[in-house]
Amino acid sequence: MTHAAHAYAKQHSDRFLEDLKHLIRIPSISTMPKHADDVRKAANWIRDEMEKIGMETAELIDMPEGRHPLVFGTWMGAGPDAPTVLVYCHYDVQPAELEDGWDTEPFEPTVKGDILYARGATDSKVNVITQLRAIESILATPEKSPVNIKFILEGEEESGSETINAFVAKHRDRLTADVSVISDGPIIAPDQPSMVIGLRGIIGMEIHVQGPVRDLHSGHFGGNVHNPVQAITEILAQLHDENGTVTVPGFYDDLIPVSAAEREAIAGADKYYEENWHKTAGAPKVWGEAGYTIQEKAGIRPTLELNGIWGGYSGPGVKTVLPAKAGAKITCRLVPDQDPTKIFEAIQKHILNLAPDTIKVEMFMQDMGAPAIRIPHDSKAAQTANQAYFNHWGKQAVMEVAGGSVPITSTFATVTDEVVLMGYSHKGGLAHGPNENIYLSMFDKGIGTAIDFLLLYGQS
Ligand code: BES
Ligand code: MN
Repeated sequence: MTHAAHAYAKQHSDRFLEDLKHLIRIPSISTMPKHADDVRKAANWIRDEMEKIGMETAELIDMPEGRHPLVFGTWMGAGPDAPTVLVYCHYDVQPAELEDGWDTEPFEPTVKGDILYARGATDSKVNVITQLRAIESILATPEKSPVNIKFILEGEEESGSETINAFVAKHRDRLTADVSVISDGPIIAPDQPSMVIGLRGIIGMEIHVQGPVRDLHSGHFGGNVHNPVQAITEILAQLHDENGTVTVPGFYDDLIPVSAAEREAIAGADKYYEENWHKTAGAPKVWGEAGYTIQEKAGIRPTLELNGIWGGYSGPGVKTVLPAKAGAKITCRLVPDQDPTKIFEAIQKHILNLAPDTIKVEMFMQDMGAPAIRIPHDSKAAQTANQAYFNHWGKQAVMEVAGGSVPITSTFATVTDEVVLMGYSHKGGLAHGPNENIYLSMFDKGIGTAIDFLLLYGQS
């Protein structure tokens, strides 16, 4: 589309990139209490920018239930008869330390060729800046925006979403709109746009195993006390069978069967999932349930993942200890129509059944999570998004079911008539890992796409 907003974006493209770098340099790590001031600093910067670009309102919102503020801006100048678009992003990031295996400082954006490396580049500050600057570019034109805009950003997406959950529960009317644009996640390859038509849900839990009341001498007591590290591994080893299938009774009961037509609809994304696995997973061999493609195992099948395990001594040299405690963290990726609480209860029951009476086991469900969601690919929003991507990538988007979770999505689906996911990073961007990155050549196309979505949604 030729529109003055695109000329404006082009003219200011260097500044937009500087903004991205500026936001990246603020380490807005939501899960670490010592970074709370940084999270707020990022929020304040975004709020100030909203004011500068001519949003009519721009505020930070705190809720007693949460830790980090929402940023909420509105521009309702298109009038009551025009559609309203609710744009969502998250401005918080996962932790990162140089020692995790980064080649450069994680919070110092480093450009090498066409790639910018930094924590939050892919997940999800490129999306924040893309949406902010697309809105700026449209509001800077004489005719301004054909749609009303509500722009909401949370600072707890990576760590529980308490504030946004509480805000929607109490003030859902403030978010009323025709469509939610969830601007998070990547497209499938730098030169191939994709539309996410399914997002997995998530639950998290911990298992704590207690053996003796205190650490013991493994010579005096080994052989007579059930070692909690041994016991927890015995239990965890029984949660999957040799095919990689989860053994928890009831785990698969509520799965909505995926039709051949649905599998066909996403098959165009298979080769990208395979390529990406071989390029970025770095594991010796593909693993998992037989009969499913890599994409299907990452999108339409639920998983039970061991995220961490602790207990006993793992320092240098030998310590002949029989430890008192062991523990593990588990998350499950959910698919429709698994209910988060029901799945936790099924796992808890199964684990407590597996536990022998020589140890004590406790299970805790973590206060986070969300159900999975399917997103129609023929809605007005999806068609508009497709057209917008096509305008800038010159290619039809392929459909995919994404494995990650954006917990608020299923809630927003009940607040607005339609939901669409629009991300502007790339799948190989190593989100959550060392050397997270984006392609700079995608940045201007992304802003162009975000501009076109708003303009086209206002026309149709
Ligand atoms: N951007 C991701 C979610 C994502 C990943 C969407 C891949 C689409 C494709 C998001 O920031 C994220 O990482 N979410 C967490 C949520 C969790 C901490 C509750 C996730 O999926 O692990
Ligand atoms: Mn993330």
